Amino acid sequence: MEEKSVAIDGPSGAGKSTLARMAARRFGLIHVDTGALYRCVGLHALRSGVASKDADGVAALLPCIDIEMRHDGAGVQRMYINGSDVTGDIRLPETSIYASDVSALPPVRAFLLDMQKEMANKYNVIMDGRDIGTVVMPCAGLKIFLTAPPEIRAGRRYRELLSGEVETTFDEVLRDIELRDKNDSSRAAAPLTVAGDAVVVDTTRIGLDESFDLLCSIISERLRL
Ligand code: DC
Repeated sequence: MEEKSVAIDGPSGAGKSTLARMAARRFGLIHVDTGALYRCVGLHALRSGVASKDADGVAALLPCIDIEMRHDGAGVQRMYINGSDVTGDIRLPETSIYASDVSALPPVRAFLLDMQKEMANKYNVIMDGRDIGTVVMPCAGLKIFLTAPPEIRAGRRYRELLSGEVETTFDEVLRDIELRDKNDSSRAAAPLTVAGDAVVVDTTRIGLDESFDLLCSIISERLRL
């Protein structure tokens, strides 16, 4: 299945999930937002009162977490922890940094890798994350690395949070993005890096519609869809 699948990697707020969801609809692929899996582990640690950098504490929680990913009729991914819908809660700002911290822990990565590989083996997917082209789907038919500078990504994320009525400031969002960039790129386990065979797409000067058109043309050409 991997040869008909698309891997999208890139830093926080680059628009990976939004674009992947749109492209999945266009090309009839299953969208898998893998950040949501790390967010589930982060949220569970937060709710359990376990510090996000407490490697042993977080590892001890793993056997008790049943994470489920379901797609509704419109292809929207919903996330469940032990049967409860946490799709909204995993997006709260306090969960973001927890997700980034727990994602540096090798037991957490191993725990979630099987789930991602299983999805990639079963379906033609468009999967987004940080290590999809490098670790999860090394044979993906197309690998995209989506990027933009931190200030641009923070501005987009800030507007998105405001429209969802989450109270925050631009500076707070920028700090969070810079911290997560540092965490995600400098960790030893599967750090965020550009796969050697990835197409780098910089969205600094292009909006959502133009980024989508560009992505679609690359997908059509490379996967002959
Ligand atoms: O894409 P996101 O911002 O929702 O991801 C949340 C965190 O999960 C992010 O800071 C890094 C981590 N992550 C990862 O390490 N590997 C992935 N494949 C996806 C996300």
